[in-house]
Amino acid sequence: MSSLPDLLSISDVADRIPPLLAEAARLKATRRSPGRSRPLAGRSVALIFEKPSTRTRTSFEVGIHELGGHAVYLSKSDLQLGRGETIGDTARVLSRYCDAIVYRAFRHEDVLELARTASIPVVNALDDREHPCQILADLLTMHERWNGAFHGKRLAWIGDGNNVLHSLLLGAAAVGLDLTAATPAEYAPHPDVVRAAEQLAARSGAHLRYIRDPKEAAQGADALYTDVWVSMGDEAEAAERQRAFDGYQINAALLATAAPTAFVLHDLPAHRGQEITDDVLDGPQSAAWDQAENRLHAQKAVLELLLPPLAGA
Ligand code: CP
Ligand code: NVA
Repeated sequence: MSSLPDLLSISDVADRIPPLLAEAARLKATRRSPGRSRPLAGRSVALIFEKPSTRTRTSFEVGIHELGGHAVYLSKSDLQLGRGETIGDTARVLSRYCDAIVYRAFRHEDVLELARTASIPVVNALDDREHPCQILADLLTMHERWNGAFHGKRLAWIGDGNNVLHSLLLGAAAVGLDLTAATPAEYAPHPDVVRAAEQLAARSGAHLRYIRDPKEAAQGADALYTDVWVSMGDEAEAAERQRAFDGYQINAALLATAAPTAFVLHDLPAHRGQEITDDVLDGPQSAAWDQAENRLHAQKAVLELLLPPLAGA
């Protein structure tokens, strides 16, 4: 595969998802093999985080280490960025030290600005528009459970039309997976993302549907997916969101209406008792823990694509 300039949206890898998943699966299978290769040897990757993270930060740090590279974690408050240095100046300086930047930001515009001003690859580690790394891990999880088949499978999203749904719509549309999203009307996905997803779906044959009723979405589905009702940055709307999402919970009754073989996805962290119940998240149909593990393998495949081996290495 030729290298990739940046991963800002899952659309950036729309044509490369099958080989990325194949490489992630290979990395997963050979993770503990002696003599594994170290394609990031001599490389350093900056991780800029404006928001908290358990999975994304840890899986990137561990993944970079396992590929032979060095990770530099930088919370915004540790950087001069937190005191008003511009994103552009931060990008220019980090580009002189590092080989790539992983950035978790509040605003998608800031991720685009960092990528525009950096001379090294930038990875979107979640912003208010997208979470592409998450969706690569999710597609790997579905690929494992469906033995590589996406066409004809039916995925139901129950909840907020947020960053995770945006990347999921684009990712599902890219691989030909049918996705029905049940969201309250006022929390539907952004029209620009819907348009972009429809364009990808026209190529792949994926069917995307946008409805209100969680029960209609779940009926006969091959997998159910949910995320928190209050994302990072939405805390001021917490009370009105709790009201709007009443009824948008994945619980045993909803799961019982899905296909008998259905599994449940959640990107985590979960708000147990809100968007998902304990018995479902901890139950035999939960795929959430595999999903979390797959962040590591999928991101290692992305890093290999962004940072091909140095000449002579
Ligand atoms: N799913 C996810 O991105 O989790 P973190 O916020 O813990 O990184
Ligand atoms: N939608 C959630 C995802 C967390 C990984 C958020 O943005 O907070």
